[in-house]
Amino acid sequence: MLRGGWVVIIIATILGVLGAVAVTLLTTPLYQASTRLFVSTTSGSSLADRYQGNRLSQERVISYAELLMGETLAQHTIDKLGLDMDAAELQANVQANAIPDTVLINVQVRDPSPVRARDIANTMSDEFVAMVRKLETPENGVTPDARVVVEQRASIPSQPVVPATMRNLAIGLAFGLLAGVGIATLRDLLDNTVKSREVLEEITGVGLVGSIPLDKERRKQVSIAFESDNSPTAEAFRKLRTNLKFLAVDSPPRVIVFTSSNPSEGKSTTAINTALALAEADHNVVLIDGDMRRPTLAKYLDLVGPVGFSTVLSGGAELSEALQTTRFPGLSVLTAGSIPPNPSELLGSQSARRLLAELRERFDYVVVDSTPLLAVTDAAVLAAGADAVLIMAHFGQVKREQLAHAVGSLERVGAPLRGAVFSMMPMRGRASYGYGYGYYGPDTPQRGPRREVAAQTDATPGPAPRRGGNSRQAPAEAGEPVSGRRRRGE
Ligand SMILES: Nc1ncnc2c1ncn2[C@@H]1O[C@H](COP(=O)(O)OP(=O)(O)OP(=O)(O)O)[C@@H](O)[C@H]1O
Ligand SMILES: [Mg+2]
Repeated sequence: MLRGGWVVIIIATILGVLGAVAVTLLTTPLYQASTRLFVSTTSGSSLADRYQGNRLSQERVISYAELLMGETLAQHTIDKLGLDMDAAELQANVQANAIPDTVLINVQVRDPSPVRARDIANTMSDEFVAMVRKLETPENGVTPDARVVVEQRASIPSQPVVPATMRNLAIGLAFGLLAGVGIATLRDLLDNTVKSREVLEEITGVGLVGSIPLDKERRKQVSIAFESDNSPTAEAFRKLRTNLKFLAVDSPPRVIVFTSSNPSEGKSTTAINTALALAEADHNVVLIDGDMRRPTLAKYLDLVGPVGFSTVLSGGAELSEALQTTRFPGLSVLTAGSIPPNPSELLGSQSARRLLAELRERFDYVVVDSTPLLAVTDAAVLAAGADAVLIMAHFGQVKREQLAHAVGSLERVGAPLRGAVFSMMPMRGRASYGYGYGYYGPDTPQRGPRREVAAQTDATPGPAPRRGGNSRQAPAEAGEPVSGRRRRGE
């Protein structure tokens, strides 16, 4: 959760600190001046008398502290200094504390002006001395019972005590951090997108057969140059290719349909690169654009679009005329053709089935790109005629119920859903954690001599390569899910 929500946490922390800075800047600085008063009581000369006197002083000190903060003294001080404030305002800035078990009282006065703070503290103390003299002198008496001396006078304070910059910053930081963690936790709890292998496998009822990383390169250039590319994305497709062969060891799927719940989950990109990865392993592959509503293969692969799948199905062209060879060795493409008014009917027709069967005969692999399941029925129709259907899930975007609906629509037509593929998985943070794009395993950054290992491990149970050597294949990755259909909750 923390890994996933670090942006929120950082933003909240920064806001907390900025808030603290704003509060600090907006607070009027207050200076504090202090005086100390000493209380003594008139007492006899005997030890007992003196002890008694001291006790009396200690008891008085507490009452004096209250009087120091009282309205009468505040008003006297204001009158004396001619201050432009009322007693309550001054009282709010005066603090008097009796020091326990002593006869001392600390008086602290806060004011925006350091000089005035000092003046108020001193004047207030002097006024208090006079006040006590008046209060403690008995009627008809001459000497007061107790007296107060200003033991320490106030000086001009150099530093303001308010705002307490460091304290404000610490509080802002702590609050920001707490709020960030709180928001991130809440978001995580409310987030019902599919973000983990467990959830994906539970909803789809099949194993995860591939995790395609989010790769900005793919937005510019969809196809990967497998002959020179060893990036994590290329490796992810090689791993997917290997896992395809293990989906059903005895009869590996050869007509493979890629679909997804929503638009833009990476179907076309994944179909193209899976086809290229298969072609890289010296298989003869045909890639079909089964998305007759928003076809993209022609654009993504720089091919001519108008004559393709729909043209052949409607009898407008022969298969051989419509099939295009590409600049990639081993890859032929059947584009979508011109957009027909009734794609679902065309795709569900007998001729579509015959065409797929024919292509299945001619090629090792038939990779079909299709439409999103929740939008139209085309994909489900196509999927019903496939050996294996792979459902793409845009990591952290597709919602659980959307995926469940999509899987339901495949189940209704009896389509052979064989695996799930995460697409656009963030490479950092929690997302990539535990999925391991590394060559040797999840947490091993170094890369090994690929070619040597490849030659030994890639004993393919898939169709025999038709074009000689098999030097560029990745090994089966230990720990990758290769099981076929699982029962839910397994
Ligand atoms: N692994 C990836 N990393 C980054 N961007 C990707 C990746 N895969 C696909 N994209 C981008 O996402 C967008 C959608 O991809 P794509 O066309 O393959 O999806 P789609 O499922 O076929 O969409 P549609 O439902 O429209 O057919 C494109 O801009 C593509 O470049
Ligand atoms: Mg597409």
